[in-house]
Amino acid sequence: MLAEPRPTPAGVGERTAAHDVVVVLDFGAQYAQLIARRVRESRVKSLILPYDVPLADLLRLEPKGIILSGGPASVYEPGAPRPDPGLFDLGIPTLGICYGLQTMAHLLGGETGPTDRREYGRTRLFVDTPAPLFAGLEDRLTCWMSHGDAVLRLPPGFVRLAHTDGGVIAAAGDPARRLYGLQFHPEVSHTPWGGEVLRAFLYGVCGCRPTWTMASFVEHSVAEIRAAVGSGRAVLALSGGIDSATAAALAHRAVGDRLTCIFVDHGLLREGEGEAVRAVFSDTFGIPLVHVDARERFLARLRGITDPEAKRRAIGEEFIRVFEEEAARLGQVDVLVQGTLYPDVIESGTRTAARIKTHHNVGGLPERMRLRLVEPLRELFKDEVREIARQLGLPDALIERHPFPGPGLAVRVAGEVTAERLARLRAADAIVREEVRAAGLQRAIWQAFAVLLPVRTVGVTGDARAYGDALVVRAVTSEDGMTADWARLSDDLLERLASRITREVRGVARVLYDITSKPPATIEWE
Ligand code: XMP
Repeated sequence: MLAEPRPTPAGVGERTAAHDVVVVLDFGAQYAQLIARRVRESRVKSLILPYDVPLADLLRLEPKGIILSGGPASVYEPGAPRPDPGLFDLGIPTLGICYGLQTMAHLLGGETGPTDRREYGRTRLFVDTPAPLFAGLEDRLTCWMSHGDAVLRLPPGFVRLAHTDGGVIAAAGDPARRLYGLQFHPEVSHTPWGGEVLRAFLYGVCGCRPTWTMASFVEHSVAEIRAAVGSGRAVLALSGGIDSATAAALAHRAVGDRLTCIFVDHGLLREGEGEAVRAVFSDTFGIPLVHVDARERFLARLRGITDPEAKRRAIGEEFIRVFEEEAARLGQVDVLVQGTLYPDVIESGTRTAARIKTHHNVGGLPERMRLRLVEPLRELFKDEVREIARQLGLPDALIERHPFPGPGLAVRVAGEVTAERLARLRAADAIVREEVRAAGLQRAIWQAFAVLLPVRTVGVTGDARAYGDALVVRAVTSEDGMTADWARLSDDLLERLASRITREVRGVARVLYDITSKPPATIEWE
């Protein structure tokens, strides 16, 4: 195992005030964030920038290292993303991953192209030269590959460091210029020793010090929020979930009572959540909180809508309207703080990733109200946010709550949302949550919930024929919500769920269990 170097004591070394920074250049893969996160896990601060960032902007950050992410393109495609070739003359250690390696090889005079054998998934790898990236590792390893192209001829100055059993160059480098590249993905959990290689690059090649912790993140983002708000006032929409709660706690630490939280109760929350929000924010933290009961309004707006995207849009629009009215009552506000997470950014579509579903947030509002948007959690994954929430002293019950979509139970009532169907779903959902907690699975499971189907089914209760709704139980395991596997709940637990729900929730005649992973399905049904 590669140990973290000891942090340099303050006052020693050339740069002690700031944290060492490694920049990840994003070539359009959903992997860039995962790479940045692995760097943070190694306690080095990471920033993501677009691949074509001007070198002057890059240099201003004084990075100790640069990582080029993978990407979906082929280097020879017209319009393939290319960094400024001057990048490799900066004297900054650089690591290219997959496409990042290919573009580096291409720009430095090597040759890249399709290989005879495309490699996807688990692949055997043989180390040719252990130092510096593979130091301390076995010379035969299993890595995760996902590529069509590969480097066919290395650029001058480069040597092969590892190859696969298909003869593909798996790692290469030019030690004199401190330029390295990996064809495999060290950032995914399927390359279990990938962290060692990244740390060898960060500590050994770049000379980074491991000083970046969640406590430093809190300090850094409080300073950032304070700078963004200046002497003005900020507003935040509390949803009841951990993301907005954490953003609120950070912003409150930054600007105190100049932050007002607005909690719009749209009536689409899980059982007990509305009350819990009030208790945590008003009572525990003493953050000014405006509580708006908009339950009737949302129900009226949703009447007759069955299409999932139409539902999401209707809720988003109505939310903005209510929020705008309440914010107007507050007088001049300058900044809107939001708890957007990285997976929300990706799933709503970015410059490089396709849109999967419209995520509900206060979209459109900043322009309309001329508010500056501050999203302190934008580059983080859920488990990182949980860690920050712990740092900030948020209660465990909130921290361990399973993720919940902004449009709430509306996207779990398939078909039309009515007060009666919402109540039915909420009651069943409470049973699912209670049983999962009782089985000790709260942490092991990413999300467990119920979905009410627009399907009626026949049953028999006592001697009578019953005709009621079909309800789905969904439980998944996941690391970050981007991919997920259906949870292998025990027969006993499934049985208890089916019998309790059909017994205790009037109108549900049948319970089903969803055994689809993501992909191809999403976690939510709509
Ligand atoms: P899907 O269903 O896309 O969900 O696999 C991935 C994760 O995101 C949550 N989700 C949302 N979160 N606003 C949110 O803040 C939304 O509109 C939204 N839709 C889905 C979902 O619960 C899962 O954790």
